[in-house]
Amino acid sequence: MTRILITSALPYVNGVKHLGNLVGSLLPADVHARFRRQTGCDVLFICATDEHGTPAELGAIEAGQDVRTFCDAQHAIQADIYRRFGLSFDHFGRTSSSHNHALTQRFYRRLDAAGLIEARTTRQVFSPADRRFLPDRYVLGTCPHCGDPSARGDQCDHCGTLLDPPELIEPRSALSGDRALEIRASRHLFLRQSQLVEKIGAWIDSRSGWPPFVVSTAKSWLNADLRDRCITRDLAWGIAVPRAGFDGKVFYVWFDAPIGYITATQEWADVAAGRDWRQWWWQADEVSYIQFLGKDNIPFHTVSFPATLLGSGEPWKTADVIKGFHWLNYEGGKFSTSRKRGIFTDAALEELPADLWRWWLIANAPESADTDFNVTRFVADVNKDLADIFGNLANRIISFAHRAFDGRIPEGGAPGDAERKLALDLEQRITTLHRHHIALEFRAAAAATRAIWDVANAYLQHAAPWTAIKSDPDRAAVVARVGLNLVALCATLAWSIVPSLSERVLGAFGRNDAVPRWPNGPLLPLLDDGAGTPVASFGPLVEKISPEKADHLTRRFGA
Ligand code: MF3
Ligand code: ZN
Repeated sequence: MTRILITSALPYVNGVKHLGNLVGSLLPADVHARFRRQTGCDVLFICATDEHGTPAELGAIEAGQDVRTFCDAQHAIQADIYRRFGLSFDHFGRTSSSHNHALTQRFYRRLDAAGLIEARTTRQVFSPADRRFLPDRYVLGTCPHCGDPSARGDQCDHCGTLLDPPELIEPRSALSGDRALEIRASRHLFLRQSQLVEKIGAWIDSRSGWPPFVVSTAKSWLNADLRDRCITRDLAWGIAVPRAGFDGKVFYVWFDAPIGYITATQEWADVAAGRDWRQWWWQADEVSYIQFLGKDNIPFHTVSFPATLLGSGEPWKTADVIKGFHWLNYEGGKFSTSRKRGIFTDAALEELPADLWRWWLIANAPESADTDFNVTRFVADVNKDLADIFGNLANRIISFAHRAFDGRIPEGGAPGDAERKLALDLEQRITTLHRHHIALEFRAAAAATRAIWDVANAYLQHAAPWTAIKSDPDRAAVVARVGLNLVALCATLAWSIVPSLSERVLGAFGRNDAVPRWPNGPLLPLLDDGAGTPVASFGPLVEKISPEKADHLTRRFGA
């Protein structure tokens, strides 16, 4: 059995994520995990909250909580939202776990033993009033480029310039407002990535199937004379640095976070007997490992994390495919967590069932360029694809079976030319759909799924069992039988994208398998099958979004 390891970039623990975060890693990873399970692969789908670094610390300060309490609560909130979005993680862990502390320190020791760690003296901003060093983001001041008074030490959000804290005019502490800031020397550890350029380059060249923009981003990062990377910080919250003279310092969040992919797998293994995390991560040559992430994460996954893994000199599993995504923009502008602009995942679920969002986001995934979310288009697309095409298909033939055949898949008659043609056409389309899923082409997979629904509708429209029933009941029975099986097939093929809708349809046929199997082999027997099986009727599979609801969405989420 093929083993597929799937990870989604680990969302920062602070704050509920927006739809851009969802479509940029979590959701496509879930669709792929589900698809692979359908085709019989042994899948492990791992995610976790990214709990260290300044985002977590700042979030806790804002919430007036200690960091651990804050992380506990935020982790639970995100876990609940992802469950309601149907994200089928095998484990949703936390980078603050004891496993992650232990393994991060272990990687450090290996890298140190390999001569890849160097201590250097750096100059850091110190706040006497706060009695601590301030990370770049904790220093505020006036931007030297545009004069904005609320620029941060790492970047001016107003003009977008990347900054160093000493460049700020009249710098002050974001914590206390202290203006008596000093520059003090502080020892830090650097990972000598410059020593690993060739190794990482060869590793990238050994991989295939990455989107071209991921490869070019990786190479430009690598070739722009890869700088040694500071992997420690003067912070209290994080993973302690096990080295003399480094008390009170922790590893940089981007050093420990990707190690969380491995340690969340260790957490998963702890939950039940017979699970072996090493099968996935250690000498696991037969595992195919696919990472899903947004484009801002590409350097960390194509260069920094591989530097940790390869630098250790140990046989860790590295990614086979890195599937990066561009941004989903919101009505022409950026989604922004800090400015609360756009649609957040909790709000999305308050308004509409998860599958409506899932469908639209996958059908419009920002795979090759940034994509715009727009309420009007969203409503039009969802109404058409899910209500008019898929929903109508299911509701129409099932209610006909209730009117004409006692709510069962009817017996009688035999498939004819129309059915043979239909089966051939669908076999090819299913092969195409399968190929798009394997190639991680999500928009194309959604389009191919929709095209299959269209073919099913066209067949029923043309064969019109509701008319045939009057003159040729056997013919009507064949078409109804094929039509019903077709609906179940359509639901099976769409399950990875719209699992709840699909399960509702399959449930009507009494099929409640946790994972509906991908169809295999010639279709005609499958489409002609099941005579006598009862099929439950249900209300509209998908309620159309009304103009009033659309207005409400525009008002609530409108830019
Ligand atoms: N928390 C990061 C972000 O949201 C992603 C971390 S991915 C991992 O951008 F590699 F660190 F795990
Ligand atoms: Zn500026």
